[in-house]
Amino acid sequence: MRSLKWSLLTISAGLVLSAQILVCRVTLSKHSFKPRPLSVEEYRIVSPETYQYILNQPAICKDKNPFLVLMVPVSPVEAEAREAVRKTWGAPSQDTLTLFYVGLSEGGQVLSTQKKLEAESRTNADIIQMNFLDSYKNLTIKTMMMMNWLAIHCPNTSYAMKVDADIFVNLFYLIRRLKSSPRRGFITGSVISDGKPKRDINSKWQVSEEQYPEDSFPWYVSGAGYVFSVDVATKISWASRYVRMIPLEDVYVGLCLRVLDIQPVYSRTMLTFRNLFEIRHLEYDRCTFAKLVIVNQFKPSELMHIWQDFHTGHTSC
Ligand SMILES: *[C@@H]1O[C@H](CO)[C@@H](O)[C@H](O)[C@H]1NC(C)=O
Ligand SMILES: *[C@@H]1O[C@H](CO)[C@@H](O)[C@H](O)[C@H]1NC(C)=O
Repeated sequence: MRSLKWSLLTISAGLVLSAQILVCRVTLSKHSFKPRPLSVEEYRIVSPETYQYILNQPAICKDKNPFLVLMVPVSPVEAEAREAVRKTWGAPSQDTLTLFYVGLSEGGQVLSTQKKLEAESRTNADIIQMNFLDSYKNLTIKTMMMMNWLAIHCPNTSYAMKVDADIFVNLFYLIRRLKSSPRRGFITGSVISDGKPKRDINSKWQVSEEQYPEDSFPWYVSGAGYVFSVDVATKISWASRYVRMIPLEDVYVGLCLRVLDIQPVYSRTMLTFRNLFEIRHLEYDRCTFAKLVIVNQFKPSELMHIWQDFHTGHTSC
């Protein structure tokens, strides 16, 4: 009897000890990450100071003082997508301001595309353009441009959202949730906690070992749509001096968050734990969409069609 008691005691002591070692390991590995500043050459690629503004709206936040700035990266030719956003969740409102971020047209007809873009900018005053080539691989540069622009021009807004033009955004629900969210050091979206680099050169998301030697990514939020407190934009701009360019903009933001020791947070419903940032495509259903923040992949015409029903009907769910 005595010996049984003793062995139980030893086992539980052992368990406590190994749990402590585990905790130690976790803390150690977290702090063993030491960011190193980039060389001037490496930083130059992502630094917004390398590029010049062609179109800008420098005073827009002074005039409006929005609660939430919606920042939409689009290519210069995507006029139809911009128009759909302006007529749906991006429509002017009391709380929000919607802006489009573009680079230089990469296809043919560069001159006529630019002329049309400038005319569109005169009409809507919501386009910001810098002189880097607008390509998929340059989206990281665009995101850093957006962060820097926000930090300089809209420091008094509370939150910003980076969101693609083909996304359905339930602004009503998002704003309600944000009113009770942390005001600083906050970033949320569809959190990816087990991302790994794809080495296959045929993959759209390929990263070479030379670009990124580690075999997993830190936590990050999927690039389709994520929301953050405005201070995070300033911090990410600063952290980018420590993070080498990789062509995956959302992972790049995650790497900056690791430098800052900021953990992205999940957004879920209370009872069912459903992810509010739905990165798959779902068929439109008014009352399902009323309980989500984003849903992925809509054509401009679909977005307009859905919104007609949603913006008046969602309150009846
Ligand atoms: C932000 O608020 C401060 C203090 O109220 C004000 O001085 C400043 O002009 C504002 N900046 C912008 C860009 O709105
Ligand atoms: C990114 O933009 C820079 C500046 O315009 C350009 O030199 C470079 O070719 C672009 N990279 C890609 C992969 O499109």
